[in-house]
Amino acid sequence: MKTKIRKLLEKRNAILLAHNYQPPEIQDIADLCGDSLELSIKAAATDASIIVFCGVHFMAETASILSPEKTVLLPNLNAGCPMADMVTAKTLKAKIKSLPSMPVITYVNSTAEVKALSTACCTSANVVDVVNSFTEKEILMIPDKNLAMYAATKTDKKLHLWEGYCPIHDNLSTKDVKSAKKKHPDAVFMAHPECNPKILEIADVILSTSGMIKYAVQSKNKSFIIGTENGIMYPLKKANPDKMFYCASDSMECSDMKKISIDDIFNCLENMNCEVYVNEDIRINAVKAVKRMLDFTK
Ligand code: 13P
Ligand code: SF4
Repeated sequence: MKTKIRKLLEKRNAILLAHNYQPPEIQDIADLCGDSLELSIKAAATDASIIVFCGVHFMAETASILSPEKTVLLPNLNAGCPMADMVTAKTLKAKIKSLPSMPVITYVNSTAEVKALSTACCTSANVVDVVNSFTEKEILMIPDKNLAMYAATKTDKKLHLWEGYCPIHDNLSTKDVKSAKKKHPDAVFMAHPECNPKILEIADVILSTSGMIKYAVQSKNKSFIIGTENGIMYPLKKANPDKMFYCASDSMECSDMKKISIDDIFNCLENMNCEVYVNEDIRINAVKAVKRMLDFTK
């Protein structure tokens, strides 16, 4: 199946992008694995005609926002992100109306409609830099309250929060982390900024998923406790075969990130279905927010 998929990708001039949380067999056949920021940069730069996105819906949508001339396929259209669905265009419009005029920074984990109402996007890798790139003193940050509270510790701006969160990261408890630390006292604890503030307070480093991989490669440390979705264990181990990685909690699994199968990838490429497309009237506004983030990141 893997050989068949690689042949089909070539025949269709398609590229396969996979998020760091995807199952190992998918990461192994991808052209590029990465965090949300790296994947969106690649989606903007590729000259392939088709992008097969192995991740969740907002990631494929972001690729389509950046490359409207390309066909973007999400091999299982049911792969969503519960946090992205915690804010809608309607609820955001009402919030904007209730506040004085200020920029809206939207986590890339959001729908295209919501991005279209935003000033700039950010990811976990660049949130602090995006926030501090604004001259305004107050900013509305949506939808992840944990990411916003993390950014608030790195800026003197007043950040208005939205009550959204990732159910997987928000659920990690200090009890879980303390027990992992007790078992592995020499390990560095790396946490994703979607974790709640109590976890971030006891983290040794706070990084995006690819940030964790790079940190482990460069670190002199030999062992790490990982506070993010457990799919990251595979690329961490692959990049650092001589180091040890321990999950902060075994229950950190995002079922949406596991919805795509190898068969789904083959079928969508064979039948050219499962397309994710953003309407042009939404896209022309959403692309401004995504591009502002990318221009700033260069
Ligand atoms: P990264 O951008 O760090 O890869 O995170 C994406 C995500 O969905 C985390 O839950
Ligand atoms: Fe969304 Fe959380 Fe899953 Fe990431 S891990 S895709 S934020 S639900």
